[in-house]
Amino acid sequence: SKKHKVCVVGSGNWGTTIAKVVAENTKQHSDVFEEEVQMWVFEEEYQIPKDSKHYNDETSQPRKLTELINSLHENPKYLPNIPLPHNVVANPDVVDAVKDASILVFNLPHQFIGKTCEQLQGKIVPYARGISCIKGLAVSDKGCELFSESIGEKLGIYCGALSGANIATEVALEKFSETTVAYDPPSMDSQHPTPQGTPHGSHTDLTKLQGEAKGLTGKKLKRTAMPSEYPPLHHKNVKKLFHRPYFHVSLVSDVAGVSLGGALKNIVALAAGFVDGLGWGDNAKAAVMRVGIMEEVKFGKMFFGDSVQTRTFTEESCGVADLITSCSGGRNFRCAKMAVAEGLSIGEIEKRELNGQSLQGTGTAYEVNDFLKKEGKEHEFPLFTAVHSILEGKHKPEEIPQLIDTSKKEE
Ligand code: NAD
Ligand code: 13P
Repeated sequence: SKKHKVCVVGSGNWGTTIAKVVAENTKQHSDVFEEEVQMWVFEEEYQIPKDSKHYNDETSQPRKLTELINSLHENPKYLPNIPLPHNVVANPDVVDAVKDASILVFNLPHQFIGKTCEQLQGKIVPYARGISCIKGLAVSDKGCELFSESIGEKLGIYCGALSGANIATEVALEKFSETTVAYDPPSMDSQHPTPQGTPHGSHTDLTKLQGEAKGLTGKKLKRTAMPSEYPPLHHKNVKKLFHRPYFHVSLVSDVAGVSLGGALKNIVALAAGFVDGLGWGDNAKAAVMRVGIMEEVKFGKMFFGDSVQTRTFTEESCGVADLITSCSGGRNFRCAKMAVAEGLSIGEIEKRELNGQSLQGTGTAYEVNDFLKKEGKEHEFPLFTAVHSILEGKHKPEEIPQLIDTSKKEE
C-alpha cells in the first residue's frame, strides 16, 4: 500500500513553520505519510548577516535560499534561529516539489497564490487533496471566493483550510497554541466516509458532504477519488498531519467560517493598530475588536450563506482567538500602530520592519472594499469601510469612533 507524500507550497514565516510541524508528524506517523516533506521555496539570493552564527567563509557571499535551507536546516531569512527537521527539503522548482504529492499544503502570501496555481495546473496528481493555510480572500470580477475554493477550482481537487491564533514564531518555538482545520471531504471519498472526532454532531451527513463538494457557491467541481491503496484521509489522519503536543488541532466542517475568520481579522488588526498608535488604550482596542468580530460573522452569513456557523467565530481558534492574538502581537497590528505613531505610511513601515515578509491586511482591506462596493453593502460594514478609507487617506484614525457609530442611524 502507498503512503501520502506531502508538499508544502510556500516557505515564508508561516510556511516554514508549518513545514516543521508537518515534518515532525510525517516522521512520527510514518505508517500514513512518507517521511520526506518537500517545501517549495520562491528562490532568491540571501546574504547571511555578519552577526549570524551561520556567517563564515562559505556564507560571506549571497547564496541561494534553497541551498542555505538545505545545508543549515534552517530558513535564515524567514524563520531564523529555528532548527528544521532534516526531512524538510527545500525545492526551488514548484512543479518538481509537488510531483506525486497526494497532500498539498498551500501556505504563501495570498497575492501570490493565483500565479502559483497556474503553474501547477496539470502538474499535480489528480486525486491530490489540499489544505489552505492562507489568510486572505480571492476577490475578482467573479466575486469573493475563499482560497480553499479557488485553489480547488483551479486545480480540480478538494481543498480544506487551516487557520488559527498562530503567530508563526511562537508556534515555531513550540509555545502552546491551538488551530482549527476545516476538512469536509467530498462524497467521492466515501470509501472512507467516517470522519473521526466529529466536530458538531451532525457531521456524518453525506448529503451535506455531497452538497459541499459542489463548492460553497453551488458550482460543480471536478473531483477524482483517492485510490484505495492510500490510507484514508479522514479527520483522524488529517489531524495526524498537523496536531502536535504544542499545536492542538480542532477539526470542523465549516470551511467558509474558518477561512473568513483568518482573512477578515487582518482588517480588524489594522484598526486595532490605528487606535493603539493614537495611544487610546485597551478599551478602544477592545471596542474595535468587538465591532470587528460582528462584521466577520455578518460578512460570512451575508455572502456565504448557511454553511457559515456563528460558533466558528465565537468558539474556535480561527475566530475570536485569532482576532485576540492578531490584535496583540500580529504584524498587521504592529505595523499599523507604528505607522500612526510615527506618521509614516503602513507600506513604508512594512518595508522597514518585515524583512521581506508580507502584510495581508492592507490588500485584504482593499479587496473586501472592492467587493462590498460592488454589492452596495459598504455602509453595512462600517469598520471594514473605515479601515479602507483610512488607508486611502480619506479619513484619519481619530475618526474611527464616528465612522463605526451605528447609533447615528437609529436616531
Ligand atoms: P511571509 O509574510 O513570510 O512572506 C514571505 C514569503 O513570500 C516568502 O516565502 C517569499 O519567498 C514569498 N514570496 C515573495 N514574492 C513571491 C512571489 N512573487 N511568488 C511567490 N512567493 C513569493 O509569508 P507567511 O508568513 O508564510 O504567510 C503565508 C500566509 O500565512 C499568509 O496568508 C498569512 O496571513 C498566513 N499566516 C501567517 C502567520 C504568521 O505569523 N506569519 C500566521 C498564520 C497565518
Ligand atoms: P499577522 O499576519 O498580522 O502577523 O497575523 C498573524 C496571524 O495570522 C496570527 O494568527
